[in-house]
Order: sequence, then structure tokens, then C-alpha cells
Amino acid sequence: MHRRQWLVWFTTFLGLLARPWRRAVDAAGTSQPASARRGGVVRWIWTGGLTSTSVSIVTRIVDGLAPVQVRLTPSGGGPAVTADAERADLDASGICRFRIDGLRPATAYIYQVVQAGIAAGPSGRVRTPAAGPHNTLILFGSCASTGSNAPIWDTMRALSPDLFVHMGDLHYQNITRNDPARFRAAFDRCLTSPRQGAFYRTVPIAYVWDDHDFGGDESTRHATSAEAAHTAYRECVPHYPLRGGPRDTIQQAFDIGRVRVIVTDVRSARDMPDRRDGSVPSMLGAAQLRWLLDEFEAASRRAALVVWANGVPWITKADEGTHHGWAPYHEERALIAAQIERVGLTSRLLMVSGDAHMVAIDDGTNSQYAPGAAPGSRGFVVAHAAAFDRFRRNKGGPYSLGRRAGRGQFGELRIQDDGRRLVATVTCRDARGRQIDKLSIRLTCVDGTCTVSQPGPQAPLFEHLGAA
Ligand SMILES: [Fe+2]
Repeated sequence: MHRRQWLVWFTTFLGLLARPWRRAVDAAGTSQPASARRGGVVRWIWTGGLTSTSVSIVTRIVDGLAPVQVRLTPSGGGPAVTADAERADLDASGICRFRIDGLRPATAYIYQVVQAGIAAGPSGRVRTPAAGPHNTLILFGSCASTGSNAPIWDTMRALSPDLFVHMGDLHYQNITRNDPARFRAAFDRCLTSPRQGAFYRTVPIAYVWDDHDFGGDESTRHATSAEAAHTAYRECVPHYPLRGGPRDTIQQAFDIGRVRVIVTDVRSARDMPDRRDGSVPSMLGAAQLRWLLDEFEAASRRAALVVWANGVPWITKADEGTHHGWAPYHEERALIAAQIERVGLTSRLLMVSGDAHMVAIDDGTNSQYAPGAAPGSRGFVVAHAAAFDRFRRNKGGPYSLGRRAGRGQFGELRIQDDGRRLVATVTCRDARGRQIDKLSIRLTCVDGTCTVSQPGPQAPLFEHLGAA
């Protein structure tokens, strides 16, 4: 056969082979010819701001055409909910935000982008919490190298958590140029990483930055890229309602059943820690501090348990001269501790933290910083969980149940609540889902008071892995 003829035949043959792949499938499952497909490529999609009746979804679409919608279909059957993007047009970034209301509580949904009436791209899952007391699984931690594709993401996804609290260092780009495109690119690398992207498609988040994903190592409100970080966060991250203006701190608070979750921003209002001008430095900034004190007061009147996601180490008694954690901001720490005591929250508060690349638990032996507290009086329970995927490093302490620095570590918080008795069990786990050392603690909460116990070794999450 002549060479040119052979090429024509070969190309035709390839075209025939490719035909089934050139058909899109619409939301009803009907095949559509490729010419009918007008949408772009869904680069990534994730959810957050979850309540029992609503959720936020953010996606990035390349070469897409407006209008873009999302469709949520109850996995157990029932009518689908379709929502339009918050902005009708699609700019060069391709980022679309959705706020979906009118969902059913305690319902699992499958969601997908819809372009020109055709469902496209990967589907994700989200499960709305019940409105009242219920059992729930929350995973937490911090710190993963940019675009991490470590097995820990698959391990955490296999647990089907209801919520993921990420306390920062989502990436380590240390962006100092005031350019939102750099932050968008960093999100892109994380959310398109196969394992990490799959995790975020199926687990709703409550995410707040730390230093490396805000303005660089040890960054403060003076970070040169702060404005861009704020802009990109509000574009790319599905979050709970924020207060104030576009440059204000990104703290958030929400209910999961009878648990009040408070997530604070320890970076974007932080003063430099030096005291050369005689001033007292603040980690949270005046507005966020006031908000936090009010949140504790309000939560003390109605929450069975309060979970405070505070990114950086609270306990620094091993070395109060350290520049890590709350030590340089000890006046503010004392003020917060005093409020927690004053409103009667100490036993009902669980602090979860990241930053240090270690897991650790303190049962309250070392966390009391309220001025005037009786010597030896207990503080609240503190649990550290990091690093998802980053080198090992210890900070702060001491921690009464111990600590283990390392990579491939996360925290698990299981809530069992029958409406009268709430049991919260925190366990530190490794990348295979095994409990690390003796790092597990239980709070049993009845009538506004929680008692602390150690549950002993937890059953392995995955039977085939054997005991921890
Ligand atoms: Fe980190």
C-alpha cells in the first residue's frame, strides 16, 4: 500500500475507534453528539459552608461557556436541585461559585456541573447534617506540600467523613507577590492532584489559612501579598459566611448538631511579635478577638460541646520564651482563657490545632492559662494533628498524653449524640488509618459538663491492616 494511502486508512481507523469517546452524556443519561457539547473542562470542584439545608460549591472550568449550573441529586432518589452560578458571566479565571439552599437535612447528594443543559466533569458527593443531635465524623489537621498526592488523602476519603477542618498550609507556595493569580495557581495544583482532588470532591471543608498559604513563613498582617490572599480565598474557597469587608479576617463559626465549631484566622490580623515600641501584640486583631469572646459567651448558653480550631500551638509551657504559637501573644491568650473560664466552657471546649508537624493530645493538664486559676486546675482538651504530607517537626508542649512528630498524620473526631449524652472521641491516626501511640481521648458531655477519659486502643479503621 502507498504510504499516503496507508496514512489515510490508519487515520480513519483511529477516528472510528475514538467515536464512542466523542459523545457526552447529559444529566438524564442520554448520549449527545460531540457537536452538542459546548462546555469546558471542569478542572476542580469542592464544597464547604455546609449546613443541614445548604452548601457552597466552587469549581474552575477551562474554556467553558456561561451559563454554568450545578445539579445536586439525592443519592437515595427524589427531585434534583439545580442552582445558577453567583455570577452569570465566566471570566478568564473560569472560577464559578454557587450557594445552594433548600436541601433536605440528613441527605446524601451527588453533585455535578451542568453546562448548556449537559452534566459534565467529575461528580462529587456531599451529605447534609441532621438539624438536631446526630452522630458525625469530622477529620482535622494541617500542612501538605503543594499538590500533595500522598496516600493519606485516600485513607481519609475512605472514612467518608462528614466534614474536614483544614487549619492551614494547604500549600507551601509562600507567595509574597500581591497577585491573586499566584494563589489561584496554588489552589489549582492542590485541587487537581489526583488523590487530593478526589478527597475534596467528596468531603466538605472548613478551611482557614496559616502562614505558608497566606503570605509566607511566619507571615503577619504586614504580608505583602495579603490583599491577593484575601481576594483568592473569597474566589476559590467554599466557606461559611464571612464578616466585615474584603480584607477582614476570615474566621467562621457554625453548628453541627449540638456542636458549635469555631475556626479562627491566626494570620491576617496578626501583629509582629516584637515589643520594641512597648505595645502588646495581638494574634487575632481587635475585631476578631471581640467576635471570639462573644462566640464563647453565646456558645456557652446552648452548645453541648465547642470545638475551637486554633491553627497554632496554644500550650507553650515547655518554653514560654519560644517564638512559636501563642507564647509571644500571651496577654491575649490569658484574656481568652479567662473568658472561657468565666462563661463556664472549660470542660466543654475541645481545641484542635495544626502548624506543628506532629500529633499530640493534652487532657487539660497543661492548657490552663486563665489568670488566677488555682494551681493545678485543668484547662480544656487540646489535640494537634499534622502533618498531612510534610516533614516532621515538634512545637509547643508539654502534652500529657504525648506527641509524635511525623508525616502522613491526621485527627479524627467522632461525635455520638443521642440528644442527652454527647460523646466526642478524638484519635490521632497515621496514613494507614491506625491509631498513633496512646493518642486518643474521650469527652462525655451531659447537662453542660464534659468529663475526660481515655478510651484505650481504638479498633483499626480498616480490618485488613490489623491492630495498631
Ligand atoms: Fe505547616
